[in-house]
Amino acid sequence: MTEIIHPANQMAGAIRLPGDKSISHRWAMIAALAEGKTTIHGYATGEDCHSTLGILKELGIEVEDGGSEVSIVGKGLDGLSAPKQMLDAGNSGSTIRMMSGILAGQSFTSRIAGDESLAKRPMQRVMKPLAEMGAEIIATDEKFPPLEIRGAKLKAIDYSTPVASAQVKTCVLFAGLFCEGETIVREPVKTRDHTELALRMFGADIVSAGKVVTLQGRPRLAAKELTVPGDLSSSAFFLSAALMIPGSNLVIGGVGLNPTRTALLDYLVSLGAEIKILNVGDQCGELVGDILVRGTIQKRGEISGALTASLIDEIPTLAVLGAATEGLDVRDASELRIKETDRIATVADNFKRAGLEIEVRPDGFTVPGRQKFHAAHFDSFGDHRIAMAFAVAALVADGPCQIENAEAASVSFPEFYSTLRSLTS
Ligand code: S3P
Repeated sequence: MTEIIHPANQMAGAIRLPGDKSISHRWAMIAALAEGKTTIHGYATGEDCHSTLGILKELGIEVEDGGSEVSIVGKGLDGLSAPKQMLDAGNSGSTIRMMSGILAGQSFTSRIAGDESLAKRPMQRVMKPLAEMGAEIIATDEKFPPLEIRGAKLKAIDYSTPVASAQVKTCVLFAGLFCEGETIVREPVKTRDHTELALRMFGADIVSAGKVVTLQGRPRLAAKELTVPGDLSSSAFFLSAALMIPGSNLVIGGVGLNPTRTALLDYLVSLGAEIKILNVGDQCGELVGDILVRGTIQKRGEISGALTASLIDEIPTLAVLGAATEGLDVRDASELRIKETDRIATVADNFKRAGLEIEVRPDGFTVPGRQKFHAAHFDSFGDHRIAMAFAVAALVADGPCQIENAEAASVSFPEFYSTLRSLTS
């Protein structure tokens, strides 16, 4: 599918975003291990989170999938049953890596795979700790999906993960649910902590101290009624657009403001954006609030070190924002090369299509500021965040742009193009 996006003179209005993808995955997986019926309102509408629901069904869990309204009847920690076929994680790295922790603790063998992009994403980062815990996992070329996960009676470990990855942390913690005693995960940089908050809310004994998380195994988890906050990562596209189009005035309501995710807002404020946060409150253990954005970017951006890990999903749209405003340097971002696409390469390819300069390095790039996007045919290369980032670029181009393979956006945000159109004129 090709989308045509026209340049915009204005961006104004108030929107709500689909539920947070990271939270939706975790709540669904934990609900399947809890006792009783969990109802989740505002569940992420993207395909990724529905791949997770499909897998839970294959594992014998009753799931009512009403799009953003979902119910899951958990059967307790030992309630999953052996799947009859290959489990399908679709495009979702979160699904395969986090589910691997759960599958490793079962008394049966499962096979799990996904689409072409997922088949190229490295799995050693979860295979290594799970093997230490006692599971046997067989992968293509010892690292790629499909994975055959031979579940076992796992033993608790104290694991220092070399990569800053919330998916790896979650995988080990999920496996730790099936162990007697204490599972400890130590991270190089504190990553998003939705798993810790969710496990605590469902009744587990889990403590975080800085970059160290300690979970007591074999908890009894109780079903809940939950509402997912809006996805802050999806807000990045609209915030970037508002900051590039002069005179914009945008309100995004009910967004997740978990402090392990809000580096995006601090970063934009540090560059001069006027961002106000209103109506902050607690929603099922997560912070939520409304974001108001106005103004422009006045400084060159620099993303490196721990900030890179915190902003990893937002970097494609921040690259577009940097090019149209005061420029951007991204460092320490080799993880970008192993996302749904090699996002350093796919950002650079699309920049070149619009006549923009970008200097690429193995672990980042430099984008000069104040560049003009020329009307272009952009390509998502099948990556949702690349599709949406370049739809935002099209708003400030000097003519209509085409986004090829635009349907990729539905992996996280099926309503993206209609939401964008409702705000721009
Ligand atoms: C996610 C963690 C991040 C992020 C991904 C979602 C999560 O991946 O890029 O979109 O929900 O835990 P890594 O754990 O690979 O950094």
